[in-house]
Amino acid sequence: MMQNRAHWTNRLAFVLAASGSAIGLGNLWKFPYIAGTNGGGAFVLVYLACIAIIGFPVLIGELFVGQQSQKNVVQSFEVLHRHRTPWRIAGWMGLVSAFLILSFYSVVGGWILDFEVRALLNQFATRSGEEIKSYLDTLFASPFRVLFWHFAFMVLTTGIVANGVKKGIERWTKILMPILSLILLGLLIYSFFLSGFNQALGFLFSWDTSQLTVDGVLEAMGHAFFTLSLGMGAMLTYGSYLDKNESLPRTALTVAVMDTVIALVSGLVIFSIVFSHGVDPQAGPELMFKTLPVLFAQIPGGTFIAIAFFLLVAFAALTSAVSLLEVVVAYWEETHNKNRTYTAIICGMAIAILGVFSALSFNVLSNVKVGGLTIFDLLDTITSQALLPLGGTLIALFFGWVLGKRAIEMVMKTGSEKTFSAVILWCNRAIAPLAILGAIGYKLITS
Ligand code: PHE
Repeated sequence: MMQNRAHWTNRLAFVLAASGSAIGLGNLWKFPYIAGTNGGGAFVLVYLACIAIIGFPVLIGELFVGQQSQKNVVQSFEVLHRHRTPWRIAGWMGLVSAFLILSFYSVVGGWILDFEVRALLNQFATRSGEEIKSYLDTLFASPFRVLFWHFAFMVLTTGIVANGVKKGIERWTKILMPILSLILLGLLIYSFFLSGFNQALGFLFSWDTSQLTVDGVLEAMGHAFFTLSLGMGAMLTYGSYLDKNESLPRTALTVAVMDTVIALVSGLVIFSIVFSHGVDPQAGPELMFKTLPVLFAQIPGGTFIAIAFFLLVAFAALTSAVSLLEVVVAYWEETHNKNRTYTAIICGMAIAILGVFSALSFNVLSNVKVGGLTIFDLLDTITSQALLPLGGTLIALFFGWVLGKRAIEMVMKTGSEKTFSAVILWCNRAIAPLAILGAIGYKLITS
């Protein structure tokens, strides 16, 4: 069985796939707008601290569990602990999270496709601001249109996963990630020449702690999980296709740094455009779908910038969605002994159908609310504020206490790595779990 399991061709292939998973809507859409609504610099500082103290150590732990077990998100806990270990609950939670997250992530992926087509049809540079601002509402007003793009996005995702780890995921991330980096680099150079560039730099990197709120800190922490694809087995599953002897610390560091750099650069590009036109950076979720598109109409070369920008976001969203589907497919394929194409199509279809509820929560089902939240918001909240942090806590505790010292010795082998092994171990054992549980506790008390 073991030698049949797919493996990445080399370390680069893994780094690209894992970065592809990490870099997604979280970096390009969510990070800029939550940084914007939380006042910029001070939030960015807290976010960086969360990545370093919580995100990075848990990333190492999660990758290790996958790598050493060479198994899917549920069975990996059994292989490393014992048959039917209660820790496999973390795996079940991961499966549920992947299923739920992809169902609504793909809806937003669909919006991006819709906007990319509009960009290709030159509908940004040539239209009035009012008209461009209405694009998102026009899309929402048509259930058919939202569903069409949601299914289109799921078909693309399923198509890649159906071809397997090497011929699907590896092949496509190798193509999409370099293009993504080039587009972003081009946009960065472009924004460097905009009048708002310096102001954007100041906004993101000057620390005005008076702007910081407890909620902002909690948001930064939750986002550290989401953006590194932690807490639901995506990194665990990708880690399980790594060779057992491959060294983790440097590889994990590369992924974490790339993810962070892309988020910061994306914020810089977006806010340069925003500040060049004296627009409010606090637009929230609409930043990418209303504020920015209007500005595309006003900047030189706006048509091309719009095409490049939405393509960039589409690629990023796709490689993340692929990792979400892979969690479910890898589990199903291995536990039911079915072939990959069949499994990918069945799982992809099931998730797409679940996503119909999220898609329709912007129109037909907009009145269906649970605790004041639409179906889309409910799924987003349940996953990013409860399931991911709790799943991450369980994986961190499993790595820190069950696998413990022996595991960290296997991970941190060289002299300079050894210096940090106690830090990484205790971040997993105590710091990350306490921070997460503290945050969830605080939310429950204050809400
Ligand atoms: N990390 C992805 C992003 O930033 C989202 C994601 C979360 C992907 C969890 C896989 C698993 O958009």
